[in-house]
Order: sequence, then structure tokens, then C-alpha cells
Amino acid sequence: MYDSGKILAGLIIFIVIATLPFTLNLGKAVAKPSPSIDTPAINQMAKKQCVESKDYMKTTHMQMLNNWRDEVVREGNRLYVAADGKEYNMSLQNTCMNCHSNKSKFCDECHNYVAVKPYCWDCHIAPKEGV
Ligand code: HEC
Ligand code: HEC
Ligand code: HEC
Repeated sequence: MYDSGKILAGLIIFIVIATLPFTLNLGKAVAKPSPSIDTPAINQMAKKQCVESKDYMKTTHMQMLNNWRDEVVREGNRLYVAADGKEYNMSLQNTCMNCHSNKSKFCDECHNYVAVKPYCWDCHIAPKEGV
């Protein structure tokens, strides 16, 4: 007869080893990014808000930046009117990065997590960050 005890022990050892890569990675995989808004420009705001709502920015900032670029480069229009009527100069460097001057703790924090590396900084100047 088979030794069911040994088979079971073997099975358990196999499962533990086979799932080890996932078990070990767990802490890393669930560590959600926490982008920081602790910058001089944002700290001065009475009401801390982005160009559009946080949810909108979270999901749509890539398209927004694309639209901004197209508007500026193709249409020569630099004025963006937000949903709340506030006006912004459509500029990656002078608008987004003026508030989000902590690129490494803000943009990169999320982008590293999802492994995207926007190539914008090949040309656009990233804010200087004091370490
Ligand atoms: C006037 C300052 C200001 C400007 C300009 C600005 N932001 Fe923001 N941004 C903020 C603040 C403050 C928050 C946090 C909002 C909140 O918590 O409701 C934020 C939130 C965000 C978020 C969501 C972060 C999260 O934790 O989900 C993204 C993404 C973002 N901004 C990207 C951009 C981009 C891209 C631009 C330029 C198109 C931009 N921001 C321009 C101040 C600004
Ligand atoms: C809350 C998290 C978060 C923050 C903060 C954030 N991003 Fe993103 N960003 C993402 C995600 C997620 C994607 C990938 C979207 C996709 O693949 O569809 C992305 C994609 C992009 C892209 C398109 C890149 C590509 O290769 O498709 C650009 C450009 C971009 N982000 C700019 C910025 C800038 C500039 C900032 C800082 C001002 C910023 N993002 C802050 C989450 C964030
Ligand atoms: C090959 C160089 C290059 C790359 C890469 C590049 N840009 Fe640009 N971008 C430019 C030039 C040149 C202008 C025109 C500057 C102007 O007229 O103010 C511009 C203008 C813009 C503008 C409007 C003006 C301003 O001051 O910001 C936005 C927004 C913009 N780019 C976003 C992006 C984003 C987002 C990425 C990455 C996904 C990106 N660009 C990648 C060269 C580049």
C-alpha cells in the first residue's frame, strides 16, 4: 500500500515551494503607492485641489496632458478652463510641476508601481528636487 502520510507531506512541501515566489512577493505586491502632495505650492493653497477632481485626475491625467499638448502645439491655445471655471496655463512644466514639484515622490511613486516611464522628461525639464 502507499504511505498516504508521506504522500500528503510531500504534497504540502510541494505546494509551499511552488507558491513561495508569490508568498514572498506579497508584501511588495500589495504596497499601494502613496503619492505625496507635500510641496511648497500645494501647502500654500487654502483648498487643496487639483485642476479637476481627484478621481478625474487619477484616471485621466494622461489624456489631459495629451490634450494640453495638442491644444498648445497644434492650436496655439494655452488657456484651459476647468469644470469649476478656474483658468490654467496648459503647461506640463509651469502648471502641473509647479504644484507637483516633488516628481519623485508624486508622479514616480505611482509610475514605478505600475511600471510606466513617461518619456516626457527627455525634453521637458523636471523640477529640481532638494534631497
Ligand atoms: C494648483 C495646484 C495643482 C496643479 C496646477 C496641478 N495639481 Fe494635481 N493635485 C493637486 C492637489 C492639491 C491634489 C490632491 C487633490 C485631492 O486630494 O483632492 C492633486 C492631485 C493630483 C492627482 C491625483 C493623485 C492621487 O493621489 O490620486 C494627479 C494624478 C495629479 N494631481 C496630476 C496632475 C497633473 C498631471 C497636473 C497638470 C495637468 C496637475 N496635477 C496640476 C494640485 C495641483
Ligand atoms: C495616482 C497615481 C499617479 C500619479 C500621482 C501620477 N500618475 Fe501618471 N500615470 C498613472 C498610471 C496608472 C498611468 C498608466 C496609465 C495606463 O497605462 O493607461 C500613468 C500614465 C501617465 C502618462 C502616460 C505615459 C504612458 O507611457 O502612457 C503620463 C504622461 C503621466 N502619467 C504623467 C504624469 C505626471 C506628469 C504626473 C505628476 C504630475 C503623474 N503622471 C502622476 C498614475 C499616476
Ligand atoms: C521630443 C521632445 C518632447 C517630448 C519627448 C515631449 N514633449 Fe511635450 N513639448 C515639446 C515641445 C518642443 C513643446 C512646445 C513648447 C511650447 O510651445 O511651449 C511641447 C509642449 C508640450 C505641452 C504644452 C506646453 C507646455 O509648456 O507644457 C504639454 C502639456 C506637453 N508638451 C506634454 C508632454 C507630455 C505629457 C509628454 C510625455 C508623454 C511630452 N510632452 C513629451 C517637446 C516634447
